[in-house]
Amino acid sequence: MKSVNVGIIGFGTVGTGVYKVLQQFGNINIKKIAVKNIHKKREIENFNSSILTANADEIVTDPDIDIVIEVAGGIDPAFDLLETAIDNGKHIITANKELLAKKGSELFKLAKEKNTVILYEAAVAGGIPIIMPVKTILSANRITKIAAILNGTTNYILTKMAENNLSYEEALKQAQELGYAETDPTGDVEGFDASYKISILSTISFNKKVSIDKIYREGITKITAQDIKSAKELGYRIKLIALGQMLDNGKIDVRVHPMLVAKKHLLAKVDNATNSIMLKGYPVGEIVLTGPGAGAEPTASSVVGDLLVLASELEASDKPLPQSICHHNEIADQIEIGDTYNEYYIAINAGNNPGAIGIIGTICGNNNINISTIMQKGIKEDNTAEIIVITERSKESDVQNALKELLKSDCIKNIDNLLRVMN
Ligand code: HSE
Repeated sequence: MKSVNVGIIGFGTVGTGVYKVLQQFGNINIKKIAVKNIHKKREIENFNSSILTANADEIVTDPDIDIVIEVAGGIDPAFDLLETAIDNGKHIITANKELLAKKGSELFKLAKEKNTVILYEAAVAGGIPIIMPVKTILSANRITKIAAILNGTTNYILTKMAENNLSYEEALKQAQELGYAETDPTGDVEGFDASYKISILSTISFNKKVSIDKIYREGITKITAQDIKSAKELGYRIKLIALGQMLDNGKIDVRVHPMLVAKKHLLAKVDNATNSIMLKGYPVGEIVLTGPGAGAEPTASSVVGDLLVLASELEASDKPLPQSICHHNEIADQIEIGDTYNEYYIAINAGNNPGAIGIIGTICGNNNINISTIMQKGIKEDNTAEIIVITERSKESDVQNALKELLKSDCIKNIDNLLRVMN
């Protein structure tokens, strides 16, 4: 087999995993690896440290390097480096979801001009094969829905809250101690990471460019132990769900927020740091892919998979196959959260007054909201009641109006939470 020369930018957990897996493939020559700290001791057997460089420009401008693997993350300097690499005719393999979500259009446009490709299987759901399948074997389908757990950190935290009756803060602390959450967990717990991934996945699934700025995003930091307990009692688990839907009118609904997921739903059974993607399309029907969404080896599986596909394409021809090229020029018409329809879980704190449930029922009714379940279990020590309402399918803007009206009523103390429901 023809040998290809590769340069790797980033040599942390994923970069090291990629390096180790690549040792099995004799036709791939790792020419250079760009690192932040060239003096750091690497725990790799027989490692030839002369391939390390602190200057990533050496990789993106090296005429002998055919493919650049970027596993450093972030926008700066990754964007400039990859732009230069493409300008110099190199193919790109990247795991960088933030870069693709925010600056993908610019990179894909340049790659098209330069007749190079950008592959990114590892950017969405780590080791789960989803990008290549959607672009190749599922391309006969009109995909209409994606519902997915795309962030391992938040799924781990929510699992531990449910299993051990922990508060969000307690579960986050445990996740940080065990290395499942970063010291600054914002990117994961506020839903940014999942929103990058669903923007990439919806763009290729619906064949229209989904803008990250128009994705409604809500994290898991407001979920309480009480929400988890009430959800359990009503037959649900709480999960951070990334949703992408192609509506009948051609508009696109993409969002990330926590949801009550019915226990019988496959996504409700996905625990700890595992990721899962449910995809619905015609003619395939519904498929679910579940597996590790992060970690050195699963992510290396996707990076190296992309690399081997590309290397074999390059062996057959200088022109990569069309499925490796991105061509979504059409911009998605994304709807606002207020225009979406959902079933809802509303946790209401009410005073111990006669007629409180009546007021809730009247205000819901006046706003076209049909209640399907209502639960109150006694009166708390502070003489208030926690009233949980589950609604039938309603319009988000109607629900928001109802909540504002409820808060104006003297006997309603607080709206403790509003979550959407998936059955
Ligand atoms: N931080 C991500 C997660 C993995 O928790 O799933 C990398 O995207």
